[in-house]
Amino acid sequence: MADTLTSPHTVRVELGERSYDILIGSALLSKAGDHIAPLAKQPRAFVLTDGTVGGLYAGALEDSLRAAGLTLHLKAVSDGEGSKSWDTLGGVLDWLLAEGAGRDDVLVALGGGIVGDLTGLAAALMKRGMKFVQVPTTLLAQVDSSVGGKTAVNASQGKNLIGAFYQPQLVLADTSVLSTLPERERLAGYAEIVKYALIDDADFFHWLEQNGADVVALEPDALGHAVAVSCAAKARIVSQDERESGVRALLNLGHTFGHALEAANGFKPSLLHGEAVAAGMALALRYSVRQGLMDGQDAQRASQLLESAGLVTHLSRLPGGPYPADFLVDAMKQDKKARAGRVPLILARGLGRAFIKPDADLSDVRDFLQEELQQG
Ligand code: NAD
Ligand code: GLY
Repeated sequence: MADTLTSPHTVRVELGERSYDILIGSALLSKAGDHIAPLAKQPRAFVLTDGTVGGLYAGALEDSLRAAGLTLHLKAVSDGEGSKSWDTLGGVLDWLLAEGAGRDDVLVALGGGIVGDLTGLAAALMKRGMKFVQVPTTLLAQVDSSVGGKTAVNASQGKNLIGAFYQPQLVLADTSVLSTLPERERLAGYAEIVKYALIDDADFFHWLEQNGADVVALEPDALGHAVAVSCAAKARIVSQDERESGVRALLNLGHTFGHALEAANGFKPSLLHGEAVAAGMALALRYSVRQGLMDGQDAQRASQLLESAGLVTHLSRLPGGPYPADFLVDAMKQDKKARAGRVPLILARGLGRAFIKPDADLSDVRDFLQEELQQG
């Protein structure tokens, strides 16, 4: 597990001259101006948000920026995945150009992963790169999407196909804003927290078995600790492999199955990304058991941890179904890294012992999924 993390927690993402801090704590939004002002060469900040988050938190951010001597220039996009589009990106860039934004200005993403991914790509493109700060407001964004520099919009051919690696200069994760997050979104973020435990941190897994309920209930100490350990895990992996040529692929635990489930459901909100990842991780571990790699009781413990929080780990009970095995395997074949019926899968040799299997046999995976469906 990560070393003792003080509260408010600071996690450093070590990337040479592109290194940055992730600050994690409650009521950070009220101090955001103090943290952003040193980055701004002009007394202003550009802020992109969505309708819901803007209505809830843009006022608090504006107060804090003003107290630090910065004016706020705000744009809100519509909620939802539809805003991760080429058209919306163009609108954001037009807005920044019309406002006279320059490379020395700061662009702040105030919102979940959708706003964060869109804002990051706009920051990367605007005059070949303006300063970028993430203020993630969903649990998923605080533990995953705001860290590591993946930015993107979607194309008609698929999700996240147009993007760039572009790191923020600062991440401010105010855990108190999670109190207004709908419960399903909270659980979807919790699935990503469990992911870090399953990848390489058995101690954190044991800690979650004892304290996961407090994390889900947003108990401040447990929540701050879980967000900090998760960010430290992601920072460690991103520092080793920023552009996903190797170890960063471990962060895709549960995502190959999960992405296939999302695709089978047409990426509709009836199955959130984190909900699909939760089921995908349980499937990856049960497939590891079937391959003789992992003890069945450990896979069961992982499913139990997810289920006890309220996440679904069995295909037959997953919202948005049914999920036929053939359809899921076809979706897996669309994976960008699939070659000749084989696809990389993240499997596990135990709790906290995930590894990359570069060439899973999809006909065997199909048999496994059929068995899963029959077991109900
Ligand atoms: P999201 O951004 O759509 O937010 C979920 C919903 O919650 C939205 O309706 C939003 O308005 C609302 N919301 C956000 N914060 C709130 C708050 N504090 N209180 C009340 N409502 C709030 O969803 P998400 O799950 O954060 O992000 C999903 C996106 O993240 C996807 O597009 C996915 O591709 C992307 N993603 C990117 C990475 C990456 O590394 N860049 C990693 C994982 C996911
Ligand atoms: N969410 C996976 C990654 O950042 O690599």
